[in-house]
Amino acid sequence: MFNFEELVDRRGLYHRSVETRIFEGVEPKDGFSIIPMSIADMNFKTAPAVIDEIDKRFKRDVFGYSINSKEFFDSIISWQKRRHGVNSIEEKNIGYENGVLGGLSSAATALLSRGDNILLHRPTYAGFNGILKNLGFNLIYSDLKIDKENVWRMDYEDMEKKIVENKIHLFVMCSPHNPTGRVWTRKELEKAYEIFKKHDVYVVSDEIWSDLILSGKKHIPSQLINEDAKSRTIAFYAPTKGYNLAGLGVSYHIVYNDFLNDRLLKEESLCHYNLNNVLSEAALIGAYSNDGEAWLDSLIEVIEGNIHLAVDFFSKIKGVDVIKPEGTYLIYPDFEKYLINKNISLYDLLVKCIEHGLLVSDGRIFGGKSTIRMNLAMPRKMLEEALDRFDKYIL
Ligand SMILES: Cc1ncc(COP(=O)(O)O)c(C=O)c1O
Repeated sequence: MFNFEELVDRRGLYHRSVETRIFEGVEPKDGFSIIPMSIADMNFKTAPAVIDEIDKRFKRDVFGYSINSKEFFDSIISWQKRRHGVNSIEEKNIGYENGVLGGLSSAATALLSRGDNILLHRPTYAGFNGILKNLGFNLIYSDLKIDKENVWRMDYEDMEKKIVENKIHLFVMCSPHNPTGRVWTRKELEKAYEIFKKHDVYVVSDEIWSDLILSGKKHIPSQLINEDAKSRTIAFYAPTKGYNLAGLGVSYHIVYNDFLNDRLLKEESLCHYNLNNVLSEAALIGAYSNDGEAWLDSLIEVIEGNIHLAVDFFSKIKGVDVIKPEGTYLIYPDFEKYLINKNISLYDLLVKCIEHGLLVSDGRIFGGKSTIRMNLAMPRKMLEEALDRFDKYIL
């Protein structure tokens, strides 16, 4: 019913995933088209329901300053209920954000002083590192560990030790986790929140990936864990990952605790940057409609198939360790043994990828040593072409 086979022409759109290069001067060689596999947006058109809503709003012709509509709030309340079983959200708990990272900046600034320590998991979504360091915070990392079943796990003992040693009062949770693709279980979140409660740690829970849950897994919103978690968490969501809307800038926070809400809103009001964009709002309403939801469910099936294909491919390469993600459209294979066997560096491997048009992400920006992050949100034919190039020219 929906077309996920179309090879979308992204030339001339100035998309970062097409235009940017990880190493200056390293370009695809002649004859190798660009396959964008780095920045987290998709090589698919957005849902028809999104276009319809934008079109409807566009045709009203006037674009004055606006507040968020009742439809915007109702769409979010209904979406959170339908997708995640959240029943307790009221309009006052929701606030528009033109970006999740902007929201995180405001939250951290509102709650901490410059120079304060913030705890994050490592590997870490690179955007967190950039903005939090720029704002003058000191980042402390707790490494996720791969267990015997090949599952990325939190190291609770290490988290608690670092919280105590570094007087930490803010943890930035990524749920589902980018880049590992872990979808945290209720038990795992409960355990983490026991520690946060014990040491009075606020949580920013970035749930931007929660629309993209795979393999029968379930996303558990951090604020659903218990009453304490609900009141110590600022959560951020967006339809941007699931519906390919990052260029429209539309996201939102959910906060229940009045103190946290007032602090966040105050901070956001100071520089006046967080104005509602009427077309972005329309996009969210379309995404969260029933037709939008049907599109997302079909997309997830396509992504699931792509992940299967790519994980199967990389797991057959000697020296490459790849774990099937439970959410997102990202894989994060580790080439450590492969690089040793071949006596080459990660840089050498990445250059080969780029020269053959495969614009992947260097895992070192997430804190890895020998990993590459690959975005698989693309038509099947494009992914097959990418894997074929890995096979013929790279590995
Ligand atoms: C975990 C996570 N948070 C935030 C963002 C960026 O969100 P925004 O563009 O709304 O700032 C991304 C983008 O990839 C992401 O992966």
